[in-house]
Amino acid sequence: MLRLLTAGESHGQALVVVLEGLPAGLEITVEDIQAEMARRRLGYGRGPRQRFEVDELTLLGGVRHGRTLGSPLAIEIRNTEWFRSDRWHDEMSPAPGETKEPLTQVRPGHADLAGMQKYGFTDARDVLERASARETAARVAAGAVAKRLLSHLGVEIISHVIQMGSARVPAEAARPTPADLDAVDESPVRCFDNVAADAMIAEVKAAAKDGDSLGGVVEVLAFGVPIGLGSHVHWDRKLDGLVAQALMSIQAVKGVEIGDGFEVAGRRGSAAHDPIRWNSDDGRYERLSTLAGGLEGGITNGELLVARAAMKPLATLNVPTLETVDTATKESAVSFKERTDVTAVPAMGVVAETMVALVLADEAQRKFGGDSVAEFVRNAEAAAAATRDRDA
Ligand SMILES: Cc1cc2nc3c(=O)[nH]c(=O)nc-3n(C[C@H](O)[C@H](O)[C@H](O)COP(=O)(O)O)c2cc1C
Repeated sequence: MLRLLTAGESHGQALVVVLEGLPAGLEITVEDIQAEMARRRLGYGRGPRQRFEVDELTLLGGVRHGRTLGSPLAIEIRNTEWFRSDRWHDEMSPAPGETKEPLTQVRPGHADLAGMQKYGFTDARDVLERASARETAARVAAGAVAKRLLSHLGVEIISHVIQMGSARVPAEAARPTPADLDAVDESPVRCFDNVAADAMIAEVKAAAKDGDSLGGVVEVLAFGVPIGLGSHVHWDRKLDGLVAQALMSIQAVKGVEIGDGFEVAGRRGSAAHDPIRWNSDDGRYERLSTLAGGLEGGITNGELLVARAAMKPLATLNVPTLETVDTATKESAVSFKERTDVTAVPAMGVVAETMVALVLADEAQRKFGGDSVAEFVRNAEAAAAATRDRDA
């Protein structure tokens, strides 16, 4: 089973990723991981930090000659801002000392105040440096590896933006397939529907003009997912629950939907479920729709896996409008102005792909096991063949 640990602060020297439980023989290079991490920077409405922060990666352990060894994979992602100037050296120094500029105007919508209360801090930076979405860079690095493992089972995971502010992709619009991922990434808002994309861009421009921010919804699609990941037997083994937790853990994600979960809640039962049919040509059962998002009873059913994540509008605004308080003086204040992105919904989609990949790779390892990729694939193929034989 896969276990992911990340460490590091937003303006510290580096992020560190440890991914434990990978089989041996998985081909992986720094360039593969970097390419995936570059996708996290995509999207109209992102600010300058995304442009000058290049992800400098070092594979510290677990890989030799381009292949995993079965030992923990360790990745360092250096923070170029740290090496480019000494701006953060005193502020983020691990040596004993104190900051000269404690942040005491806590920002609404961030972890600042709750984190200070929980850990007994008087400087919000002690919280915000780790709460920052910079940490998602570490997740995406690990997700690149999880995706690579899943590719050996024929699983491909993509995402696209289906809502930004009030601009939405119509429910009947065509969904992208893995072959469309480049087209999605080339869209400035990572939206597959051109008309909706134009409306989204207009919303971002309008919000930017007002110094405001936007949220939205991303849809993650996993193609080729094997039958039988997750289980109905216990609450914490249900794959829909695991996917929901993983997506909800992304900074600023406030809602998760599996398939058409919220829409079908308003329908009658007769129109809310995916009918099942025997496909004699392919020799398999098939669902005639994707309302359940490829999950029934917490188990993957071999259909397209569909999960959506809703992100709140970013809480740091380019115009200070949100009322807050200075924790040192208790005086009212206006949330401090800082250059920030207008929206991070397109980038969040890449992080959401990562989280789904990590959950699926973990469950695939649990079900199929194997110390090497060859063994893992052999076990998965044997399980698929056994299912086919039983079903026939
Ligand atoms: C990819 C990504 C980028 C983000 N960028 C920003 C940002 O530029 N400014 C901001 O205020 N919040 C940003 N956020 C959201 C904050 O990290 C998040 O709102 C904050 O940590 C509070 O988290 P919570 O809403 O889960 O409690 C981003 C989130 C993600 C996923």
